[in-house]
Amino acid sequence: METSKIAFITGANRGLGLEIGRQLGKLKIKVLLGARNEESGREAASQLKTEGIDAEFIPIDVTDNKSIENAASVVKRRYGKLDILINNAVFFNRENQSPSIIPPDLLHNYLNTNFIGPVLVSQAFLPLIRESSAGRIVNLSTSIGSLATMGDSVNTNPKIATATPLGYSSSKAALNMFTVLLAKELKETNIKVNSADPGLTQTDMGGKDATYTVEEGARPVVWLACLDEHGPTGGFFSHKKVNPW
Ligand SMILES: NC(=O)c1ccc[n+]([C@@H]2O[C@H](COP(=O)([O-])OP(=O)(O)OC[C@H]3O[C@@H](n4cnc5c(N)ncnc54)[C@H](OP(=O)(O)O)[C@@H]3O)[C@@H](O)[C@H]2O)c1
Repeated sequence: METSKIAFITGANRGLGLEIGRQLGKLKIKVLLGARNEESGREAASQLKTEGIDAEFIPIDVTDNKSIENAASVVKRRYGKLDILINNAVFFNRENQSPSIIPPDLLHNYLNTNFIGPVLVSQAFLPLIRESSAGRIVNLSTSIGSLATMGDSVNTNPKIATATPLGYSSSKAALNMFTVLLAKELKETNIKVNSADPGLTQTDMGGKDATYTVEEGARPVVWLACLDEHGPTGGFFSHKKVNPW
Protein backbone atom coordinates (compact mmCIF):
# COMPACT_ATOMS: atom_id res chain seq x y z
CA MET A 1 0.00 0.00 0.00
CA GLU A 2 1.24 3.47 -0.86
CA THR A 3 2.06 5.76 2.08
CA SER A 4 -0.11 8.86 2.46
CA LYS A 5 0.46 11.83 0.20
CA ILE A 6 2.88 14.54 1.25
CA ALA A 7 2.74 18.18 0.14
CA PHE A 8 5.35 20.93 0.59
CA ILE A 9 4.30 24.58 0.35
CA THR A 10 6.65 27.56 0.33
CA GLY A 11 5.61 30.74 2.17
CA ALA A 12 3.05 28.74 4.14
CA ASN A 13 3.12 30.66 7.42
CA ARG A 14 0.34 33.04 6.35
CA GLY A 15 -1.98 34.07 3.51
CA LEU A 16 -2.75 31.68 0.68
CA GLY A 17 0.12 29.33 1.55
CA LEU A 18 -1.31 28.61 5.01
CA GLU A 19 -4.83 28.16 3.61
CA ILE A 20 -3.59 25.82 0.85
CA GLY A 21 -1.96 23.78 3.63
CA ARG A 22 -5.24 23.74 5.55
CA GLN A 23 -7.30 22.60 2.54
CA LEU A 24 -4.77 19.91 1.51
CA GLY A 25 -4.58 18.77 5.15
CA LYS A 26 -8.36 18.37 5.29
CA LEU A 27 -7.98 15.96 2.36
CA LYS A 28 -5.77 13.83 4.64
CA ILE A 29 -2.56 14.90 2.91
CA LYS A 30 0.42 15.44 5.19
CA VAL A 31 1.41 19.09 4.84
CA LEU A 32 4.94 20.41 5.21
CA LEU A 33 4.70 24.15 5.78
CA GLY A 34 7.77 25.92 4.39
CA ALA A 35 8.54 29.30 5.96
CA ARG A 36 11.62 31.49 6.33
CA ASN A 37 10.60 32.72 9.79
CA GLU A 38 10.92 29.95 12.36
CA GLU A 39 8.52 31.41 14.90
CA SER A 40 5.63 32.01 12.49
CA GLY A 41 6.32 28.72 10.67
CA ARG A 42 6.02 26.77 13.93
CA GLU A 43 2.95 28.79 14.92
CA ALA A 44 1.26 27.99 11.59
CA ALA A 45 1.96 24.26 12.00
CA SER A 46 0.58 24.33 15.58
CA GLN A 47 -2.52 26.15 14.38
CA LEU A 48 -3.23 23.50 11.71
CA LYS A 49 -2.55 20.70 14.19
CA THR A 50 -5.24 22.10 16.50
CA GLU A 51 -7.60 21.74 13.51
CA GLY A 52 -6.76 18.02 13.25
CA ILE A 53 -4.32 18.41 10.34
CA ASP A 54 -1.05 16.51 10.05
CA ALA A 55 1.23 19.54 9.63
CA GLU A 56 4.94 20.14 10.12
CA PHE A 57 7.15 23.22 9.77
CA ILE A 58 10.17 23.08 7.44
CA PRO A 59 12.51 26.13 7.34
CA ILE A 60 13.10 27.52 3.84
CA ASP A 61 14.10 30.86 2.35
CA VAL A 62 13.53 30.55 -1.39
CA THR A 63 16.24 33.16 -2.12
CA ASP A 64 18.91 31.12 -0.34
CA ASN A 65 20.20 28.07 -2.17
CA LYS A 66 21.65 26.49 0.96
CA SER A 67 18.31 26.82 2.75
CA ILE A 68 16.53 25.24 -0.27
CA GLU A 69 18.99 22.31 -0.30
CA ASN A 70 18.58 21.84 3.48
CA ALA A 71 14.78 21.73 3.16
CA ALA A 72 14.98 19.12 0.38
CA SER A 73 17.38 16.99 2.37
CA VAL A 74 15.16 17.11 5.49
CA VAL A 75 12.18 15.93 3.40
CA LYS A 76 14.33 13.24 1.76
CA ARG A 77 15.57 11.95 5.12
CA ARG A 78 12.15 11.94 6.77
CA TYR A 79 9.88 10.83 3.90
CA GLY A 80 11.97 9.79 0.88
CA LYS A 81 9.46 11.30 -1.57
CA LEU A 82 7.24 14.30 -2.27
CA ASP A 83 3.84 14.15 -4.01
CA ILE A 84 2.90 17.83 -4.24
CA LEU A 85 5.08 20.95 -4.45
CA ILE A 86 3.39 24.34 -4.23
CA ASN A 87 5.62 27.28 -5.22
CA ASN A 88 3.69 29.96 -3.34
CA ALA A 89 6.20 32.33 -1.63
CA VAL A 90 6.19 35.81 -3.09
CA PHE A 91 8.03 39.12 -2.98
CA PHE A 92 5.67 42.06 -3.36
CA ASN A 93 5.70 45.65 -2.12
CA ARG A 94 3.93 48.90 -2.90
CA GLU A 95 6.92 50.74 -4.43
CA ASN A 96 6.47 52.14 -7.94
CA GLN A 97 7.73 49.44 -10.32
CA SER A 98 6.87 51.03 -13.67
CA PRO A 99 9.23 50.04 -16.52
CA SER A 100 10.72 53.53 -16.95
CA ILE A 101 11.85 53.91 -13.32
CA ILE A 102 12.07 50.57 -11.51
CA PRO A 103 15.40 50.48 -9.62
CA PRO A 104 17.70 47.47 -10.25
CA ASP A 105 17.52 46.19 -6.66
CA LEU A 106 13.73 46.11 -6.73
CA LEU A 107 13.64 44.32 -10.10
CA HIS A 108 16.21 41.85 -8.78
CA ASN A 109 14.09 41.14 -5.66
CA TYR A 110 11.00 40.36 -7.74
CA LEU A 111 12.83 38.02 -10.10
CA ASN A 112 14.89 36.39 -7.38
CA THR A 113 11.99 35.43 -5.10
CA ASN A 114 9.18 34.93 -7.62
CA PHE A 115 11.03 33.28 -10.52
CA ILE A 116 14.53 32.03 -9.65
CA GLY A 117 13.33 30.81 -6.22
CA PRO A 118 10.62 28.48 -7.59
CA VAL A 119 13.00 27.19 -10.28
CA LEU A 120 15.67 26.30 -7.70
CA VAL A 121 13.11 24.87 -5.26
CA SER A 122 11.63 22.68 -8.03
CA GLN A 123 15.09 21.49 -9.08
CA ALA A 124 16.00 20.58 -5.50
CA PHE A 125 12.75 18.68 -4.89
CA LEU A 126 12.42 17.03 -8.31
CA PRO A 127 14.32 13.86 -7.37
CA LEU A 128 11.83 13.40 -4.50
CA ILE A 129 8.83 14.18 -6.71
CA ARG A 130 10.05 11.52 -9.17
CA GLU A 131 9.62 9.02 -6.30
CA SER A 132 5.88 9.82 -6.18
CA SER A 133 3.37 7.79 -8.20
CA ALA A 134 1.60 11.05 -9.19
CA GLY A 135 3.79 14.13 -8.71
CA ARG A 136 2.17 17.55 -8.95
CA ILE A 137 3.89 20.96 -9.09
CA VAL A 138 1.76 24.09 -8.85
CA ASN A 139 3.28 27.52 -9.46
CA LEU A 140 1.31 30.43 -8.01
CA SER A 141 0.88 32.93 -10.80
CA THR A 142 -1.54 35.77 -11.54
CA SER A 143 -3.58 37.23 -14.38
CA ILE A 144 -1.25 40.23 -14.29
CA GLY A 145 1.61 37.89 -15.24
CA SER A 146 -0.21 37.25 -18.53
CA LEU A 147 1.27 39.02 -21.57
CA ALA A 148 -2.12 38.83 -23.31
CA THR A 149 -3.97 40.42 -20.38
CA MET A 150 -1.38 43.11 -19.60
CA GLY A 151 -0.98 43.99 -23.29
CA ASP A 152 -4.71 44.62 -23.61
CA SER A 153 -5.00 48.38 -23.06
CA VAL A 154 -8.79 48.24 -23.36
CA ASN A 155 -9.18 45.54 -20.73
CA THR A 156 -12.62 45.73 -19.13
CA ASN A 157 -10.92 46.12 -15.75
CA PRO A 158 -9.62 49.73 -15.82
CA LYS A 159 -7.05 48.97 -13.11
CA ILE A 160 -5.49 46.26 -15.30
CA ALA A 161 -5.72 48.43 -18.44
CA THR A 162 -3.50 51.09 -16.82
CA ALA A 163 -1.28 49.03 -14.46
CA THR A 164 2.47 48.83 -15.23
CA PRO A 165 4.02 46.65 -12.49
CA LEU A 166 7.11 45.45 -14.38
CA GLY A 167 8.77 43.69 -11.42
CA TYR A 168 5.83 41.57 -10.29
CA SER A 169 4.36 40.92 -13.75
CA SER A 170 7.65 39.95 -15.39
CA SER A 171 8.51 37.60 -12.50
CA LYS A 172 5.18 35.78 -12.91
CA ALA A 173 5.41 35.76 -16.74
CA ALA A 174 8.83 34.12 -16.37
CA LEU A 175 7.34 31.67 -13.85
CA ASN A 176 4.64 30.81 -16.40
CA MET A 177 7.37 30.01 -18.93
CA PHE A 178 8.97 27.73 -16.33
CA THR A 179 5.60 25.94 -16.01
CA VAL A 180 5.37 25.42 -19.77
CA LEU A 181 8.93 24.23 -20.25
CA LEU A 182 9.14 22.01 -17.17
CA ALA A 183 5.82 20.36 -18.10
CA LYS A 184 7.21 19.77 -21.60
CA GLU A 185 10.43 18.30 -20.22
CA LEU A 186 8.47 15.98 -17.87
CA LYS A 187 5.80 15.05 -20.41
CA GLU A 188 6.67 11.34 -20.39
CA THR A 189 6.59 11.12 -16.58
CA ASN A 190 3.65 11.00 -14.15
CA ILE A 191 4.46 14.54 -12.96
CA LYS A 192 2.10 17.38 -13.89
CA VAL A 193 3.15 21.03 -13.73
CA ASN A 194 0.65 23.90 -13.88
CA SER A 195 0.32 27.59 -13.07
CA ALA A 196 -2.56 28.65 -10.82
CA ASP A 197 -4.13 32.09 -10.58
CA PRO A 198 -6.05 32.44 -7.29
CA GLY A 199 -7.55 35.78 -8.40
CA LEU A 200 -7.41 38.91 -6.25
CA THR A 201 -7.54 37.41 -2.74
CA GLN A 202 -7.92 38.87 0.77
CA THR A 203 -4.38 38.40 2.12
CA ASP A 204 -1.74 40.91 3.27
CA MET A 205 -0.76 41.18 -0.40
CA GLY A 206 -4.25 41.32 -1.95
CA GLY A 207 -5.77 43.60 0.71
CA LYS A 208 -9.04 43.26 2.60
CA ASP A 209 -11.20 44.54 -0.29
CA ALA A 210 -10.02 41.84 -2.69
CA THR A 211 -12.58 39.79 -4.64
CA TYR A 212 -11.99 36.36 -3.09
CA THR A 213 -11.76 35.17 0.48
CA VAL A 214 -8.61 33.24 1.27
CA GLU A 215 -10.67 29.98 1.27
CA GLU A 216 -11.89 30.74 -2.26
CA GLY A 217 -8.47 31.88 -3.54
CA ALA A 218 -6.82 28.63 -2.42
CA ARG A 219 -9.29 26.41 -4.30
CA PRO A 220 -7.80 26.55 -7.83
CA VAL A 221 -4.41 25.71 -6.34
CA VAL A 222 -5.75 22.73 -4.39
CA TRP A 223 -7.61 21.54 -7.50
CA LEU A 224 -4.36 21.53 -9.53
CA ALA A 225 -2.45 19.91 -6.67
CA CYS A 226 -4.92 17.01 -6.59
CA LEU A 227 -5.41 16.40 -10.34
CA ASP A 228 -5.89 12.77 -11.32
CA GLU A 229 -3.91 11.16 -14.14
CA HIS A 230 -6.30 12.57 -16.79
CA GLY A 231 -5.76 16.17 -15.65
CA PRO A 232 -3.90 18.82 -17.66
CA THR A 233 -0.21 19.67 -17.54
CA GLY A 234 1.59 22.80 -18.76
CA GLY A 235 -1.54 24.96 -18.34
CA PHE A 236 -2.57 28.20 -16.62
CA PHE A 237 -5.84 28.06 -14.70
CA SER A 238 -8.00 30.27 -12.55
CA HIS A 239 -11.02 28.79 -10.82
CA LYS A 240 -11.13 25.92 -13.36
CA LYS A 241 -11.05 28.35 -16.31
CA VAL A 242 -8.08 28.52 -18.69
CA ASN A 243 -6.16 31.82 -18.40
CA PRO A 244 -4.55 33.39 -21.48
CA TRP A 245 -0.74 33.40 -21.42
N1 LIG B 1 -3.34 37.72 -2.83
C1 LIG B 1 -3.64 37.91 -4.12
O1 LIG B 1 -4.52 38.71 -4.48
C2 LIG B 1 -2.93 37.10 -5.19
C3 LIG B 1 -3.40 37.20 -6.51
C4 LIG B 1 -2.77 36.47 -7.50
C5 LIG B 1 -1.70 35.65 -7.17
N2 LIG B 1 -1.26 35.59 -5.89
C6 LIG B 1 -0.10 34.72 -5.59
O2 LIG B 1 -0.40 33.87 -4.51
C7 LIG B 1 0.80 33.60 -3.76
C8 LIG B 1 0.56 33.87 -2.28
O3 LIG B 1 0.21 35.22 -2.12
P1 LIG B 1 -0.38 35.81 -0.76
O4 LIG B 1 -1.38 36.80 -1.12
O5 LIG B 1 -0.71 34.72 0.18
O6 LIG B 1 0.91 36.60 -0.19
P2 LIG B 1 1.26 37.09 1.29
O7 LIG B 1 0.06 37.03 2.16
O8 LIG B 1 1.99 38.38 1.12
O9 LIG B 1 2.30 35.96 1.81
C9 LIG B 1 3.53 35.85 1.18
C10 LIG B 1 4.25 34.66 1.78
O10 LIG B 1 5.50 34.50 1.07
C11 LIG B 1 6.52 34.36 2.07
N3 LIG B 1 7.83 34.74 1.55
C12 LIG B 1 8.22 35.91 1.03
N4 LIG B 1 9.53 35.86 0.67
C13 LIG B 1 9.96 34.61 1.00
C14 LIG B 1 11.21 33.94 0.89
N5 LIG B 1 12.28 34.56 0.39
N6 LIG B 1 11.29 32.65 1.30
C15 LIG B 1 10.21 32.03 1.84
N7 LIG B 1 9.00 32.61 1.98
C16 LIG B 1 8.88 33.89 1.57
C17 LIG B 1 6.06 35.27 3.22
O11 LIG B 1 6.79 34.97 4.39
P3 LIG B 1 7.02 36.06 5.58
O12 LIG B 1 5.82 35.97 6.47
O13 LIG B 1 8.29 35.60 6.23
O14 LIG B 1 7.14 37.41 4.94
C18 LIG B 1 4.60 34.85 3.27
O15 LIG B 1 4.46 33.61 3.93
C19 LIG B 1 1.89 34.47 -4.38
O16 LIG B 1 2.71 33.71 -5.22
C20 LIG B 1 1.12 35.52 -5.16
O17 LIG B 1 1.84 36.02 -6.27
C21 LIG B 1 -1.85 36.29 -4.89
